[in-house]
Amino acid sequence: MSSKYGGGGRGRRGGSSRGSSRGHRDGSRERAGRGGGNSGSFDLDNASGRHPSHLKGREIGLWYAKFGAVRKKQADRRSRAVVQMDEAREQHIIKLLDSVQNDQSALERPNRDARGSALDGWRQQQMKGGEDREKDKDLEFLLQEIARDVSLDESLKRDLQSKKTHPKYKEMLMFREKLPSYGKKELVRLINSNQVLVVSGETGCGKTTQVTQFILDDHIKRGMGSMCRVVCTQPRRISAISVAERVAAERAEKVGSGNSCGYQIRLQSQLPRRQGSVLYCTTGIILQWLRSDPQLSSISHLVLDEIHERSLHSDVLLTIVKDLLDVRHDLKVVLMSATLNAEKFSKYFDSCPMIHIPGLTFPVEEFLLEDVVEMTRYRPKNQDRRPAWKRGFWQGRHSRPEKEEKEAEYKESWPCYARTLQAKYSESTIAALEMLDGDDKIDLDLILALIRHIVLNDEEGAILVFLPGWDNISSLNDLLMAQQMFRSGRCMHTHAHMKHIHVFKRPPPGVRKIVIATNIAETSITIDDVVFVIDGGKIKETNFDTNNNISTMTAEWVSLANAKQRKGRAGRVCPGKCYHLYNGLRASLLDAYQLPEIMRTPLEELCLQIKILKLGGIAHFLQKALDPPTEKAVNLAIKNLKDLNALDHSENLTALGFHLARLPVEPHIGKLILFGALLGCLDPVLTIAASLSFKDPFFIPLGKEQMADKRRKVLSRNSKSDHLTVVNAFQGWQEAKQHGGRYEREFCWDNFLSANTLQMLHNMKGQFAEHLMHTGFVSSKDPKDPNSNVNSEARVSKIMKINAHILCCRVKVYTKHDGKVCIHPKSVNYEETNFNYTWLIYHLKMRTSSIFLYDCTEVSPFSLLFFGGDITIQKDDDQETIAVDQWIVFRSPARTAHLVKNLKRELDSLLEDKIRKPAPVDWQNHHSKDCAVITAIIDLITTQEMTATTLPMAVADGHVNASSCE
Ligand code: CDP
Ligand code: MG
Repeated sequence: MSSKYGGGGRGRRGGSSRGSSRGHRDGSRERAGRGGGNSGSFDLDNASGRHPSHLKGREIGLWYAKFGAVRKKQADRRSRAVVQMDEAREQHIIKLLDSVQNDQSALERPNRDARGSALDGWRQQQMKGGEDREKDKDLEFLLQEIARDVSLDESLKRDLQSKKTHPKYKEMLMFREKLPSYGKKELVRLINSNQVLVVSGETGCGKTTQVTQFILDDHIKRGMGSMCRVVCTQPRRISAISVAERVAAERAEKVGSGNSCGYQIRLQSQLPRRQGSVLYCTTGIILQWLRSDPQLSSISHLVLDEIHERSLHSDVLLTIVKDLLDVRHDLKVVLMSATLNAEKFSKYFDSCPMIHIPGLTFPVEEFLLEDVVEMTRYRPKNQDRRPAWKRGFWQGRHSRPEKEEKEAEYKESWPCYARTLQAKYSESTIAALEMLDGDDKIDLDLILALIRHIVLNDEEGAILVFLPGWDNISSLNDLLMAQQMFRSGRCMHTHAHMKHIHVFKRPPPGVRKIVIATNIAETSITIDDVVFVIDGGKIKETNFDTNNNISTMTAEWVSLANAKQRKGRAGRVCPGKCYHLYNGLRASLLDAYQLPEIMRTPLEELCLQIKILKLGGIAHFLQKALDPPTEKAVNLAIKNLKDLNALDHSENLTALGFHLARLPVEPHIGKLILFGALLGCLDPVLTIAASLSFKDPFFIPLGKEQMADKRRKVLSRNSKSDHLTVVNAFQGWQEAKQHGGRYEREFCWDNFLSANTLQMLHNMKGQFAEHLMHTGFVSSKDPKDPNSNVNSEARVSKIMKINAHILCCRVKVYTKHDGKVCIHPKSVNYEETNFNYTWLIYHLKMRTSSIFLYDCTEVSPFSLLFFGGDITIQKDDDQETIAVDQWIVFRSPARTAHLVKNLKRELDSLLEDKIRKPAPVDWQNHHSKDCAVITAIIDLITTQEMTATTLPMAVADGHVNASSCE
């Protein structure tokens, strides 16, 4: 085997292993001198660089185009970086390979630790099942034996009785009694008499906080408290905590601490008492639980909340629960949804009963774009009267074909719609509508004009603005700040970042609160004093383009369900107003709902979960989903997993696949973690893995973007690596923390770091390391254990600058399949011009306005050779070359190339062996094969000797997520 365990990690959502004929490197083996195709008759062997005299007219142009391409290929070959070694090193490696290959006993792995050697491979581990169950804190609530306890039943009953006189409880009860859900006494009856119930109701009517309490209190009152264990899922970590805290407060208790209400989110919990309690958790926790107990035996009621969001996790859980009901006849399931599609869920669960809780909202008056333009007399800066579709704006901009069809329909209907407007609106308004129509960008000036209009003409009340993303929020904030009116103290504006205290505070009298938010404020956070809602009309939507194997993120029109939620936000305290920034024709074409996430996301991680949960064939299982993903997407995910060697030909988990499925991260990050452990650089690799799978710890405050960029650049310490920048930030934070809280806060403040995120990354690293220890890859659960970090300090020490002549402009970056791509502005390499090598690796690639690499690291040729895909050696004209996956080509003397190839083969077999029979590398024994091979490779990478003349031009991507820079 050669490349199976190689590969520097393909982008989470991008990259592919498919070959391409587009990258000109593939064509570089064509003979120069004879052009192919329709210009085959041209003589290109022309040393003078001038076209042959017999050519005429257009032929001359074609000749130069062809000649230019051939010259470029020739220049490329000349510019290839050279991979070479000095003689002493060559000798060392020859000796090493000899000894390794001759030493048969080395293949027997003399240095396993007791645990690793005792096991005959991963299959035994699989049979052991959750041997390390007890060690996992996330499972604590689940893994309990529950039996009826009559004396507990009595004491719970007494306890609830006595609460009724508690002043705090009484005060909260007065609030609760006013909620629409409180009057719905049949809720409990329906839950008791049915296995599944769908509860729908307006946001704020009291589903999340009340339904769980109704179930619990009913059981306690009936003297059955000890048998009641209600678990309620939340789509986000933050909502699980805040709802649990709220419910505890309503019960005049503290959250967790063995009381009646608690929460469990990944790596963080406040658990309630074992019996007679309510637990709020994230949907992911239940999926994790299912691995240890597929029947969730100890749970009496499963409440699945916010299922209308149709997140990947929630849809998968619905599919599993549907089957589970056949096995667990005693399990009660309550499905809760904010909006109208209750029927769909009910139908999915064999037409189970539904109950609707009406809202208590005030009427909200709605306005469309034509009304807003008329009332503000707004005129767009872009005075092109041809509608956007006539300017060709929308062509090919949509992520899905259905959207293109909608656009065509819009185009056709517009003239007719414009005529109907004439009766009610002025000429100039209709003209402005045409100019505004459908532009990709949200017109922030229009929003500014509307805010001014509201502030000057309307009564008091907070304004909530919905925008698709952070960039718009930041720009609108800048626009507001530039206006005297909004700086004067009469207005306070803020963005709905979760921890922003201002968002929830009522402003002093006479001050107008303006909150700018993304769709998170539709259901997740409730800002009580909102009276005016401005619905920007767009929502950021990620999609997965199965044709190109790339994720996209575009601002799309909202769905009617989004628009309805947004409107509802305006009527919580008094009658309100909602301004939708799309016209009536657009409104008539909006989708009813957003497409479920399962239909627009890559499915690799999910496929591994299906295998590890033993849910049957992947395609068969996914067919059972509420809205199954396309066959194409499923097949692509299976193919990618086979390429990664996580699945074998019959779709069974391989040894690698088994480990990847058990790690709570997406497969490419899982592979990174395993390699970090085996190569002895655990701590920094776990920092990178945690940040790639959760989020990076940097935040960018409004108005401080440039300063934040500068700080990140400093933290990068010239590594040309976003990944190492996070490592540096994390290390700095840990050091500062050791000096005390004040230093920690200062370090975070100075470097625009979130201490909460860093803490979460720290916890995740601990979880990964613990997992690696239990599976036998390392010998300690401490990520910083010296034995796991023998190579963590390895740094490239000798670098020859190869592109020092490019200093002034941004580099051009290419990938194999996409051609030119951009480095994302948040990357430390965004404006970097002074690279040492011409190759970058990346993790996340996404198509938004262009294709962006969100994170990248410069890599050396030896790193690519050892951790890229298959190596091929060949003679290309007169040049001896070594190539990775046949597309990253280096010049290299044949002798060196063969040595590298042999060494890489040893590495691959070593890694395969280790993954089959996990055992830490014995770094103390320098004669062991493992130690010798890895040390030799690290030595080569860190003391790289290479020369190159100029830079390669366009190149391409493949097994490795590499891209070249020019
Ligand atoms: O789930 P649903 O949207 O139907 O409502 P809920 O989350 O149960 O909230 C019911 C009421 O409790 C809301 O109207 C809020 O006023 C209040 N609540 C709160 O004050 N703090 C929370 N963390 C959650 C809810
Ligand atoms: Mg809710």
